[in-house]
Amino acid sequence: MRRKLVAGNWKMNGSAESIRTLLQGIKDGAAPVAAVELAVFPPFVYLSLVEQQLSGTAISWGTQTLSEHASGAYTGEVAGPMLNDFHCAYVIVGHSERRTLYGETDDVVARKFAAARKVCVKPILCVGETLEERDQGITESVVERQLKAVLDLEGIEAFNDAVIAYEPVWAIGTGRTASPQQAQDVHAFIRAKLTERSSEVAAKTRILYGGSMKPANAKELMAMADIDGGLIGGASLEAKEFLAIAQAGC
Ligand code: PGA
Repeated sequence: MRRKLVAGNWKMNGSAESIRTLLQGIKDGAAPVAAVELAVFPPFVYLSLVEQQLSGTAISWGTQTLSEHASGAYTGEVAGPMLNDFHCAYVIVGHSERRTLYGETDDVVARKFAAARKVCVKPILCVGETLEERDQGITESVVERQLKAVLDLEGIEAFNDAVIAYEPVWAIGTGRTASPQQAQDVHAFIRAKLTERSSEVAAKTRILYGGSMKPANAKELMAMADIDGGLIGGASLEAKEFLAIAQAGC
């Protein structure tokens, strides 16, 4: 049985003050949704604050990206070993905003995935097609290509300690969600690709849905057989909404 994971990707939002309020709200409301694992992903500069506020709770935290390199002359970057200093459990890799706005290729994403594993921080690998790719009917081949880059570099066993997030790019921040069946179809496809390499690992790997998941649609989405939680952007910035999504997964 895969425990559901509801992860809040805060992106480049928040302030010390708003984050304190948000975390307090999440902590206050976390007990009734304890069946679901919660995790939050603040901007790097608030990592220390988040660690202080969440240490000793059951809520996990991590970052929205990391460098593929372990140290060195890479101005502005943050390395895997630094995440260990703040006890990050997870790191998001290959988010579509990183791929499209910062030019991260499948190879770079695979190396970032490897860098996370090297320091025992669990990667959450994001995959997903653009609207153009969906309209061309190539969703599966796009997702397969993104997944294969990581599987070829790190192997199927790496997914014993990793999570996948399927995020159709056309549904991110747009208010347009994939229908539960559309999402399930891609999730099942991803699991089938993992199964080709190991049915044992495939059965254990959590596959989250991301892209305008809200309290109103979370229950239907998470009721699907291969949807094991959500990677939530906008709705993770309000404790009430974030917790309502978690409740839908209980
Ligand atoms: P959204 O973002 O929930 O605001 O669509 C999801 C994500 O990009 O992780």
